[in-house]
Amino acid sequence: MKTKNKVFIATSLDGYIADKDGGIDWLHSIPNPDQNDMGYAEFMSQIDALIMGRTTFEIVCGFDIDWPYTKPVFVLSNSLKNVPKAYEGKAEIINGSLNEILTKIHKKGHYQLYIDGGKTIQSFLKEDLIDEMTITRIPTLLGGGIPLFAELAETLDFECTNSKLFLDRVVQNEFTRKRGTKGI
Ligand SMILES: NC(=O)c1ccc[n+]([C@@H]2O[C@H](COP(=O)([O-])OP(=O)(O)OC[C@H]3O[C@@H](n4cnc5c(N)ncnc54)[C@H](OP(=O)(O)O)[C@@H]3O)[C@@H](O)[C@H]2O)c1
Repeated sequence: MKTKNKVFIATSLDGYIADKDGGIDWLHSIPNPDQNDMGYAEFMSQIDALIMGRTTFEIVCGFDIDWPYTKPVFVLSNSLKNVPKAYEGKAEIINGSLNEILTKIHKKGHYQLYIDGGKTIQSFLKEDLIDEMTITRIPTLLGGGIPLFAELAETLDFECTNSKLFLDRVVQNEFTRKRGTKGI
């Protein structure tokens, strides 16, 4: 079974996923009268499970909405032993090396994985474990915040496989990791 680790995330024009206070209200700053989901539902239909960082998990838990995921959620954390009671059966804590984590999740039958959270995505990229990224760029300069990307030991090449404009001002690009013959 082909395994894929995918990112679907929105950034500011200057590449941040949250502002200086960790806030994400600016993501909703563009009028969106028809509630265009910019491909999110279609993306979610193609994944088997999510791996998210503990910080992103806690942010989602704090939203005043029902649990938004229908797929299993694995929360990377070295500080939490269990998820809070209200989230049992919806999410579970996982830790170890990324390869150990991926092996455990693949053994459960989940192969197409949505990787979410800044530090989490960065740690996957450090080990060249991201295959596809859909990045929706909100045209706002935040001037600081939580960055999507961090320093890497090596250059990683991606191919831009699709590009769309939403709401007349939001660009969404899809990137696929372009590995040399060695990496495939
Ligand atoms: N713009 C968007 O579309 C978007 C999407 C998602 C999130 N966000 C925002 O991004 C922020 C959260 O991102 P973040 O970068 O702060 O953190 P994150 O990736 O969500 O979580 C990081 C935490 O995950 C745990 N962790 C355990 N193993 C890890 C590993 N191998 N690699 C990375 N993390 C590991 C650690 O928690 P322990 O300390 O418990 O070990 C670490 O502190 C929030 O403000 C959220 O709202 C924005």
